Amino acid sequence: MNIRVFQDILEQIHNQQIRQFTAKCLEDTPDYIEKIPASTTGKYHPLEATKEGGLVWHIRLACWYANMFFNAFQWNGDPKKNIEPDIRTDIILSALLLHDIGKKADYGKNFWEYKNHPIVAGNMIEKNKSILPEKVFTLIKSCIIYHMGPWTPPSILKDINNYNICELVVYQCDYLSSQKTLKVILCDNINC
Ligand SMILES: [Fe+2]
Repeated sequence: MNIRVFQDILEQIHNQQIRQFTAKCLEDTPDYIEKIPASTTGKYHPLEATKEGGLVWHIRLACWYANMFFNAFQWNGDPKKNIEPDIRTDIILSALLLHDIGKKADYGKNFWEYKNHPIVAGNMIEKNKSILPEKVFTLIKSCIIYHMGPWTPPSILKDINNYNICELVVYQCDYLSSQKTLKVILCDNINC
């Protein structure tokens, strides 16, 4: 896919290795990811997520929610006090940008396969593993494979009480972004 779709969010990732890893994984992602909706049923997702380009819309909104959490946790750092941004902001944004890359354009009769998209995404990012320190890669991957919380594929299901804070934030941002009962007005600038 064309990584420019997420250029502004990639630029928000401070750590160079994490940014490079995320960009490379997105580059390796099929082009149809830019076009497909996040959901076809519209059962839970807002209308915008069910249209063409809806998956990109959904991912961008999830990253917007992540920024809300970063502000609430004071993870953005403070240049005046020489406080660097918390590396967990980079890990979470990377995981959110990549969490749904395992979705298919069309499942046909095999819709049950949809449930496994977190595992598919986790396997897709393995290719670029060497760009990152092992610990950081493992954390990004776990945020991706557990992003569906209690709806995570049964073969890898993990008790939500055992989620670390990055896994929890990614799950929450994805969850909030897929709620049609929430109406958020997005500004052009993701930081606004
Ligand atoms: Fe998602």
